[in-house]
Amino acid sequence: MIDTTSGPLGQAPAGGSFFRSGPADEDGLRLHLNETAYGPPPGAAEAVAEEAALHLERYPDSEYRALRPALARHFGVAPEMVAFGNGVDELVLLTSLAMLRAPDAEVTATAGTFPGYAASAATAGARMRALPLAEHAVPVPEMAAALRAGTDLAFVCNPLNPTGALLSAGQVRELLDAAAHAPGVLVFDEAYLDFAGAEHHHALAAVREGAPALVLRTFSKAWGLASVRAGCVIGPPELIGRIERAARALPFRVSRPAQRAVLAALARPDHLEHVRTGTAHARELLVSGLTALGLRCAPSAANFVMVDVPGDSAALTARLAAEHRVIVRDLGLLGLPGRLRITVGSPEQVERCVDALAAVLRRVRPTAGAVR
Ligand SMILES: Cc1ncc(COP(=O)(O)O)c(C=O)c1O
Repeated sequence: MIDTTSGPLGQAPAGGSFFRSGPADEDGLRLHLNETAYGPPPGAAEAVAEEAALHLERYPDSEYRALRPALARHFGVAPEMVAFGNGVDELVLLTSLAMLRAPDAEVTATAGTFPGYAASAATAGARMRALPLAEHAVPVPEMAAALRAGTDLAFVCNPLNPTGALLSAGQVRELLDAAAHAPGVLVFDEAYLDFAGAEHHHALAAVREGAPALVLRTFSKAWGLASVRAGCVIGPPELIGRIERAARALPFRVSRPAQRAVLAALARPDHLEHVRTGTAHARELLVSGLTALGLRCAPSAANFVMVDVPGDSAALTARLAAEHRVIVRDLGLLGLPGRLRITVGSPEQVERCVDALAAVLRRVRPTAGAVR
C-alpha cells in the first residue's frame, strides 16, 4: 500500500506536513520516525485488546482518575502537576495555544528541530525564532538570553532532535535560572530522555522542587506505545491549569485503550531499562558501522543518530527507500541538507541499514575509501 498523502519517499510535499509518516510500507525498514525496535512493555497490548473488547462503546475517562495518580507517582509529583494528552504533539499545540495569547507573541526553538513547535506557533498565530545550533547542540546562552529578552515560549528539546545532543546539569540550571526571571514559559521536550537514564533527569528534579518550567514526556518512544498516542506534561499547577483550560473543548482526547496501555506500561518500569540498554548497544553498532563507511556522526543520547553524507541527501534517502526499502529521514527537509537522521533499530536492522547505505554510497562515490 502506498501512502498517497505524502511524497513517494516520505518527504513532505510542498505545503504539506512533516508529520505524515511517509510510505505506509510495513515491509520497509522504518528508521525515519524514531520508533522503538523493542515493542511495548509486556501487558500493554493485552490491556489495549481487553479494553477494546469490553468497552468500545464507552467514552474515555476525561478526568484520568486512574491515570493521573499513577503518572504523579511515576514522576514523583503531585497529581495537579501532570496533564495528559494525545501524544506530545498535542501537548505542544495545547501549550502554545495556552501560552501565546499576546498579539505578536514569539516562540523560540533551535533550527532544524522537531517541526511541531513551528507548526503549533503558526496555529497560535505566533512568530517563530530559530536559534542556530552550537556544535550540534542547543545554544544555551542564546536560549537563556531569548528568555531574558521576553520570548513568550521557549522549546528546548533534550536530547535534541535531530542530533541527539544532551544537556548537562549546569546547562539545564542556566536555562531554569533565566526562566525564573523571565515573563515567558520554558518547556523541556524530553521525548527521548528515557534513552539517557535517570541521572540526566535534571529538569524534572527542578520542577519537582517548584521550578517554573514544563517538562514533556512521551509514551511513544522508549515505552513503545506510539500507536495509541499518549504523552504528558509536568509542571507547576498554575501552568498545568492553563494547558488544561486550553484543552476544554476536547474532553475525550486520550482514548480508553491509550489510558489502559499507559497504566499497564507504568507497571513495568523494567521495560525501560531493557530498551535503554538494548538501544545503547545498537547505537554503538550503528555509529561504528557508519564510521567504517567514512561518515561522521554526531554524538547521540537518543534512539537516533545524525550522520553527514556525501552529495545530495534527498537523493540518497530516495535510493535507500526505492532500492533497499530502508526509510530514513533526510534532514534537508528540516533545513539541514547533507545529513540523515537514522533511528537506532535492533542489531539486525542496524546491519541491514548500514549494508544498504554502503551499497548506495558505492554508487554515489565509486572511489573506495573517499572520506569526507
Ligand atoms: C522531539 C519530539 N517531541 C515530540 C514528538 C511527538 O511525540 P508524540 O508521539 O508523543 O506525539 C516527537 C516525535 O517524533 C519528537 O521527536
